[in-house]
Amino acid sequence: MRNHRLTRRDFFRAGAGAAALGVAGKVSFLTPSFLAAAPRAVAPSDRVRFASIGTGVRGCEIMRAALNCPGTEIVAVCDLYDGRLIAGQETAGKKLFTTKHFRDILERKDVDAVLVATPDHWHKQLTVEACAAGKDVYCEKPMAHTVADGFAMAEAMQKHNRIVQVGSQARSSIVYAKAHEIYTSGAMGIVTAIEAWIDRNDASGAWVYPIPPDASEKTIDWERFLGSAPKRPFDAKRFFRWRQYRDYGEGLPGDLFVHLLTGVFTITGINQPPIRAASMGGLFRWTEDRDAADLVWTLFEYPDFRVSLRCNLNNESPGEARVFGTKGTLIIRNDVLTFTPQDTRPKPEGYSIYGWPEKLRSEYFANWHKEHPLPEPGKFAVDAEAQTFQAPDGYDYGVDHMNNFMESVRTRKPSVEDANFGNHTAIACHMANYSLDKKTMAVWDADSKTIKG
Ligand SMILES: NC(=O)c1ccc[n+]([C@@H]2O[C@H](COP(=O)([O-])OP(=O)(O)OC[C@H]3O[C@@H](n4cnc5c(N)ncnc54)[C@H](O)[C@@H]3O)[C@@H](O)[C@H]2O)c1
Repeated sequence: MRNHRLTRRDFFRAGAGAAALGVAGKVSFLTPSFLAAAPRAVAPSDRVRFASIGTGVRGCEIMRAALNCPGTEIVAVCDLYDGRLIAGQETAGKKLFTTKHFRDILERKDVDAVLVATPDHWHKQLTVEACAAGKDVYCEKPMAHTVADGFAMAEAMQKHNRIVQVGSQARSSIVYAKAHEIYTSGAMGIVTAIEAWIDRNDASGAWVYPIPPDASEKTIDWERFLGSAPKRPFDAKRFFRWRQYRDYGEGLPGDLFVHLLTGVFTITGINQPPIRAASMGGLFRWTEDRDAADLVWTLFEYPDFRVSLRCNLNNESPGEARVFGTKGTLIIRNDVLTFTPQDTRPKPEGYSIYGWPEKLRSEYFANWHKEHPLPEPGKFAVDAEAQTFQAPDGYDYGVDHMNNFMESVRTRKPSVEDANFGNHTAIACHMANYSLDKKTMAVWDADSKTIKG
């Protein structure tokens, strides 16, 4: 978790723990599922041999997570930049077969699974071809660059009967699992509104990464990087800061909304595209050389509730998810979940009757108290206390998520976040962008599997 960018940057910066949140009341520690499952031996025949395709920042992080899972072995790395082939081997801690062509990986008989951590415009081709080659796939979020890509990936998973898991790791978090338990227990009453955000205020948060000094067409396979994107001359900024350009990424929705949506799906148990989405936002500050907005605010319509998501690259505040129910409020921040019951005890009207004549008001109060007698001494209901649940310090839900993938590869048990799930969160991101770009409401048309305005 400490090495995991989203968590470190967005959820730990304010200082971890219930104390940092000023939370009072009962605090319970949650047990990581990986720790509970880990200390079992894995038979050599159950060893998962994997290769990494894309060994940039995230590719190295998930390789590390995979190597931390019991019974795994890395056999090869693929990347388009010489420096990343070196970084990949450094992360693996050994010399490996390296290549700039993913088909060299897919042809290998000793590869059971591939970890795909390339820019988003490559996810579809790599996942579809890997499934066809009989490999299981862990594909980073957002699963798909376009709506059509998402359906092609879900189809490939099904057609070739492969495990495809999408890398939005909140899906395997013990904190979100606890939130789901509270949500489904009925303790929240009727939930109609959810809001979540991730806000940042620095160059790295806005994807303005430094460019390695040896970046050139000699060290980078630029033509292959472009792939299905429009052709253009070599541009190191586009290669290393690809999130700034919608040819390769999906802006803030694809980069960060997708994590928030995975959280919403996991808490509530939904798994479907939104009915409608309406966005506002714009490019206000990081205007040099990008076409992705630095503020996106979207309201999504799901059947039972509405969801408001915001990402702002122009102010920092710790990321949060808030779920509002008639009987309680659930807040997740910094791997800390707090459930605060609403006061739902009956009370006499205290506002509108002050427009009544004194006599009627007094009668109203007298009647109300007659109908709601005070409990006998000793039988007063105590206000329900806020309850807080906290993951242990250093908890890494990325490792839980990767361990879930490796277990699915071994057991063929469906993934916790398969390509259908990944498709549904990605569609919501595409709808957010559609609405932002076209300045209109985005409507999901399930029959044609397209977004309509
Ligand atoms: N789950 C998370 O919390 C999380 C965090 C960060 C990034 N990500 C996702 O991980 C993916 C990679 O992001 P990143 O920050 O590591 O980017 P990055 O730019 O650091 O690394 C991407 C690497 O992919 C390589 N690449 C591109 N096309 C390739 C191809 N056809 N074959 C082989 N290699 C190719 C590039 O050479 C580059 O080294 C993105 O989809 C991103 O959204 C997820």
